[in-house]
Amino acid sequence: MNAVVIYDSRYGNTEMIARVIGMVLGATVCHVDLVQPNDLSGSDLLVLGSPTHGGFHSEKIEALLKDTDTLDGCKTMVFDTRTKRTLFGYAAPKMAKKLSRKGAVLVVPPEGFYVMGVEGPLNEGEMERAEIWARQSVSMNGDHAVQIKDLLEWKSP
Ligand SMILES: Cc1cc2nc3c(=O)[nH]c(=O)nc-3n(C[C@H](O)[C@H](O)[C@H](O)COP(=O)(O)O)c2cc1C
Repeated sequence: MNAVVIYDSRYGNTEMIARVIGMVLGATVCHVDLVQPNDLSGSDLLVLGSPTHGGFHSEKIEALLKDTDTLDGCKTMVFDTRTKRTLFGYAAPKMAKKLSRKGAVLVVPPEGFYVMGVEGPLNEGEMERAEIWARQSVSMNGDHAVQIKDLLEWKSP
């Protein structure tokens, strides 16, 4: 399967979740800065991840979606990172709505992963929850098992 995970991240938390999901799916993991709008429809499965900013996805993710013409039939998954407190909701449902309007198909419900404060870190157990969420979209075999303990040591460059 040719899967791609595209993420934005200011403090590295969304990137950590993106990398867990990328390992489960055997996907290419790409920062949004490195992606062109027309790249989005070229994969079997597109995963979009964003921090929640003011209840929405990031401006960079918004710009990418805005410049993407159509995603007819493209299989997608969306996730955000978030705090427990928000005034205007969360990013993932909004990304899901935008993708659906462009013809994309969500293969699992949007998901959010919690951080303890604006800069993180991720709440305990969120990396594991991301692994489980990603596994919902594929039938896994042992060869692709994610070593979560290794990823917990991983830091954004
Ligand atoms: C400008 C800004 C606005 C934010 N707005 C929200 C918000 O509306 N709701 C929320 O739950 N978290 C909000 N947060 C906290 C982010 O969810 C948190 O910074 C993010 O999950 C961290 O991910 P990152 O490390 O990938 O940047 C905001 C953070 C910033 C910097």
